[in-house]
Amino acid sequence: MAKQIRLNAFSAATPGSQASSLWNYPGNRAAEYNTTRYWTDLAKILERGLFDALFLADSTGANNVYAGSEAAALRRAVAIPRLDPAMVIPAMADATTHLGFGITGTLTYEMPHLFARKMTTLDHLTNGRVGWNIVTGYLKSQGTAMGQNAIDHDRRYDMAEEFMEIVYRLWEGSWEEGAACRNRENGWFADPSRVHKVRFEGEFFKTETIHLSEPSIQRTPFLYQAGASGRGRAFAGKHAEGIFVGGPSQKVLADQVAKLRAECVAQGRGRDDIQIYALATTIVSDTEVDAKNKYENYRRNVHHEGGLAHLSGLMGIDLSKYSLDEPLKHIETDAMRSVVESYTSADPNRVWTIRELAEHQSLGGRGPVFVGTAPQVSDQMQEWAEACDIDGFNLAYIIAHETYEDVADKVVPELQRRGAYPARYEPGSLREKLSPTHKPHLMAPHPGAQYRTAP
Ligand SMILES: Cc1cc2nc3c(=O)[nH]c(=O)nc-3n(C[C@H](O)[C@H](O)[C@H](O)COP(=O)(O)O)c2cc1C
Repeated sequence: MAKQIRLNAFSAATPGSQASSLWNYPGNRAAEYNTTRYWTDLAKILERGLFDALFLADSTGANNVYAGSEAAALRRAVAIPRLDPAMVIPAMADATTHLGFGITGTLTYEMPHLFARKMTTLDHLTNGRVGWNIVTGYLKSQGTAMGQNAIDHDRRYDMAEEFMEIVYRLWEGSWEEGAACRNRENGWFADPSRVHKVRFEGEFFKTETIHLSEPSIQRTPFLYQAGASGRGRAFAGKHAEGIFVGGPSQKVLADQVAKLRAECVAQGRGRDDIQIYALATTIVSDTEVDAKNKYENYRRNVHHEGGLAHLSGLMGIDLSKYSLDEPLKHIETDAMRSVVESYTSADPNRVWTIRELAEHQSLGGRGPVFVGTAPQVSDQMQEWAEACDIDGFNLAYIIAHETYEDVADKVVPELQRRGAYPARYEPGSLREKLSPTHKPHLMAPHPGAQYRTAP
């Protein structure tokens, strides 16, 4: 039987997700990102293509690393302006039945009990279809906006462990099953003897409260994570159910995936308890020549400063200081270490110039770009999925809606014909669809399950 491929869509509530400097390419609807219609149209296309979920990236600060200012990011729509990703979900949930929604929440700059309430609200309103991409943040500007000093890379992960314990206690332990009894006879909405206070005092957080919301279908939202440094992988191995990876070559990706699966096993979980999606972009047309022409047209329209501003933020390195033909060398950074590694030490045989980096980032991000007819793109997807031991792809767009329409209407039917893609959605919540347990709640040995109060 052919290896099954899963698809996830990678976007953000901004006109510039990955292919930021192409927001004004003819036919690109990215500039309409601030309308409900943009999102509901997108969600319907993704559901037609049986995508697992739409993932919305986010950051709580503006990208100002390139030349030390936000100017290039503003000019090229590099993830700015941006809206709150949580707010665009309910309209899409209403327009669909099965599609999941993964939103990024940067825990370093959130209050645990308020964040827990926000996610529970979304899980109720989506009928159990929400996921949380747990991130610790990588831009210094996020700290500045909060009036805080920058917190270094590994300390952010220490903070994350405390945050997770609090939200697990709120989601899993505060309300017993059935505590919101809605008893019309005695008029009790909830039974106070079955709602428990969470008390926590750690190095970073202190709280004493019941969970403000009654439990939703999944209780804890489906958990995504995308950290790829040593600390990031350990965190993912422990907490994540879905993982986003990104890398420019099969070697870089396969190494990442092997380490992630090993980390999962080291944490007492199964190597296949996690769904791993690799960032990729597709450029599909009815003929190979046409697909290649499309690619070339996109490439010619890329603005280097857009790609470099984006990468500067991710890497924490000001790439305006380099000339376009200079090679990138490894530099220690406090931002996304894995991005720097993936272009330097992770594959020493491949040396990237700054110009190549700019174009690679601008055409869909830091993953491979699959160009061709539907059968050719399907071949490439199947080859990468086998070689890298991934479960599927986190597909970025180049032209909003159009890129995904090509996948839903051309590539998905081809993969289905090959027996490599599902014919329909599984029933139930996002966790029931994606977790090997097919249960709506976290189950042992996942660490979150231990906080559930016995019914
Ligand atoms: C596909 C992908 C998507 C990501 N999306 C976000 C995001 O939306 N917001 C964010 O702050 N970090 C995002 N990250 C970054 C990571 O979650 C993580 O914070 C970062 O990699 C730093 O951790 P690390 O040094 O352990 O890799 C993403 C990473 C990948 C590979």
